[in-house]
Amino acid sequence: MAATRNVMRAVRVFEFGGPEVLKLQSDVVIPDPKGNQVLIKVHACGVNPVETYIRSGSYARKPALPYTPGSDVAGVIEGVGEHVTAFKKGDRVFTTGTVSGGYAEYALAAADRVFPLSDKLDFKQGAAIGIPYWTAYRALFQKGRAKAGESVLVHGASGGVGIAACQIARACGLKVLGTAGTEEGMNMILRNGAHQAFNHREANYIDKIKECTGMKGVDIIIEMLSNVNLAADLQLLAHAGRVMVVGCRGPVEINPRDTMSKESSIIGVSLFLATEEERQECAAALLDGIAAGWLKPSVGSEYPLERVVKAHEDIINSSGARGKMVLLP
Ligand SMILES: NC(=O)c1ccc[n+]([C@@H]2O[C@H](COP(=O)([O-])OP(=O)(O)OC[C@H]3O[C@@H](n4cnc5c(N)ncnc54)[C@H](OP(=O)(O)O)[C@@H]3O)[C@@H](O)[C@H]2O)c1
Repeated sequence: MAATRNVMRAVRVFEFGGPEVLKLQSDVVIPDPKGNQVLIKVHACGVNPVETYIRSGSYARKPALPYTPGSDVAGVIEGVGEHVTAFKKGDRVFTTGTVSGGYAEYALAAADRVFPLSDKLDFKQGAAIGIPYWTAYRALFQKGRAKAGESVLVHGASGGVGIAACQIARACGLKVLGTAGTEEGMNMILRNGAHQAFNHREANYIDKIKECTGMKGVDIIIEMLSNVNLAADLQLLAHAGRVMVVGCRGPVEINPRDTMSKESSIIGVSLFLATEEERQECAAALLDGIAAGWLKPSVGSEYPLERVVKAHEDIINSSGARGKMVLLP
């Protein structure tokens, strides 16, 4: 192992709880890559809402304590295990998962969760790809069966998954409508693939979306806040339309009859349940997107590692997303 220091700064969680349980420590031992693992010098790490649910202890999947959060890092290979042939020291990479946690100066990752980072993208953009783009692709195609020529409403398009969904859907020939909670967010959506943007904090925005479809409704909704929007979504769907439940933070009341009148479907999406084959399908499509130039993550708020507590507070209580939130070690 060729790391120049044997300790690093890393965020550690010793007990589940509020954002204050995230502790930045400066004496965490840098792990050694073994077998099929690589060690990455982290330049940026994406912050995903799921990391706040896991930290709180309310999530179904709980890591053993203590742990370091973070799965989506971008950086440079520092060392490789004895079985790794695909990467070498100095390669620019991004990940879709880590072994030791990404909120740190170095992260260990299994080589099959590591991808080359194109020169077209900087490290912050690299850290914005993992969970958001894999989820958006899965929601649109693997679960939503989206086809060119269909219409999609990305309901909550200004954040990590939303921007990804807009870019992918536009590149694949869908008509893309998106929502954001601010003027700045709406403009950002329009620059990232949406044909039209709406403000989900405006009283009559649902009517405006319906009018925009000629009262026909949309074929697919990628829903980031189902507990608020699911009942209205069922009204917004076209015949045989599908709501993809990507984000949900609580219960909601719906009238199931609304699905009968259009033979519409409500479909749950879970990136964690993707098979290895499905993950590879996502990777192939998304790496093609980077090469073609349409996959270009939009980075929003940036936080140094010292402000990780604030980052976790802000991602949940956002007053207006502006792309992907990243941590910088
Ligand atoms: N199922 C899965 O496998 C999976 C995978 C990844 C993420 N997720 C979930 O998907 C959701 C989005 O993730 P993310 O990474 O994109 O989060 P993010 O970057 O924090 O973005 C949150 C998005 O939700 C929007 N939003 C806020 N209020 C809304 C409303 N009333 N109606 C519709 N959208 C609203 C925000 O818009 P403004 O800020 O502009 O108001 C923003 O676009 C989260 O709940 C996350 O946990 C699920």
